[in-house]
Amino acid sequence: LNSLLVLGIESSCDETGVALVRTQGGARVPRLLAHALHSQIEMHQAYGGVVPELASRDHIRRVLPLTEAVLYESGCTLPEVDVVAFTRGPGLAGALLVGAGVACALGSALEVPVLGVHHLEGHLLSPFLSADPPEFPFVALLVSGGHTQLMRVDGVGQYALLGETIDDAAGEAFDKSAKLMGLGYPGGPALSRLAEQGSAVAFKLPRPLLHSGNLDFSFAGLKTAVMTQAKKLGDDLPARKADLAASTEAAIVEVLVKKSLAALAQTGLQRLVVAGGVGANRHLREQLNAACAARRVRVHYPELHLCTDNGAMIALAAAMRLQAGCEAPNREYAFDVKPR
Ligand code: KG4
Ligand code: ZN
Repeated sequence: LNSLLVLGIESSCDETGVALVRTQGGARVPRLLAHALHSQIEMHQAYGGVVPELASRDHIRRVLPLTEAVLYESGCTLPEVDVVAFTRGPGLAGALLVGAGVACALGSALEVPVLGVHHLEGHLLSPFLSADPPEFPFVALLVSGGHTQLMRVDGVGQYALLGETIDDAAGEAFDKSAKLMGLGYPGGPALSRLAEQGSAVAFKLPRPLLHSGNLDFSFAGLKTAVMTQAKKLGDDLPARKADLAASTEAAIVEVLVKKSLAALAQTGLQRLVVAGGVGANRHLREQLNAACAARRVRVHYPELHLCTDNGAMIALAAAMRLQAGCEAPNREYAFDVKPR
């Protein structure tokens, strides 16, 4: 395990990502040699959301050119690859099958092991690619379009769930509220941008489960409240959209921050890792930074461009799992995916 070259492929949703990382004997964290990404957002925009069949077809078009780009950029050649990793799930079944199929075909052709990675583990470990990687143990706030979880992380593969959403994910709350306001897809970044011009206290919106006494989340009620408010505004909605966006963002962010602090208090840990697409939210970062600074808690984020889906986190998670001895290399090329 002194030095392994790991190729990683991500294709769970609407981004095709490919990356190469290298594990290094003494080093704690594998090094990212190159990564390439193709976002399908523009293609899906006309439909207001991801069209699974179009996503699969586009992954097929992109995955090999991206692989070639990554090899070129890193100066590595395909025969040097020691392990091929792919996202096994969760995600869109057809989209996952493209990455899994290509990874297993490559693995079989190169006669090297393949490794299926959990997409969320990729997000979770992605802050290790930043200039200031975290140390174990830490509390992780995982906030993506499909998941909202708080975890206690003691090491690679050592994850204890502390709480999660009982309905919508935080990213979903952003996206669905944005859709109600006619902000298109993906709504999170658009809503956040609009919120900059609005007042966060303009509308009173619920903070679901804020005082539930546990670490679970719920965002479905918030979405309903935003819808009710939007209807009530009627013709005034366009003029008040920025205020509604700011109020919605404030509600989501407040719950995420308070529950993260509660998780830190409950575990007694002094380190927080934030990962997943919503971790790119500026407001969330500012509030977490301020709250954690006041409590002498260190916060770690992935680099902004690695917050949303990418291949680097998949190659990294595979490499870290191999380094930690969590994986027996698999030379069975009959693959499966786990959409849920
Ligand atoms: O992790 P990710 O790329 O994909 C999933 O695995 O779900 O996360 C995508 C989610 C979307 O819901 C998107 O709206 C949200 O992350 N997101 C944001 C921001 N950037 C991405 N939400 C709020 N503010 C942002 N700046
Ligand atoms: Zn993701």
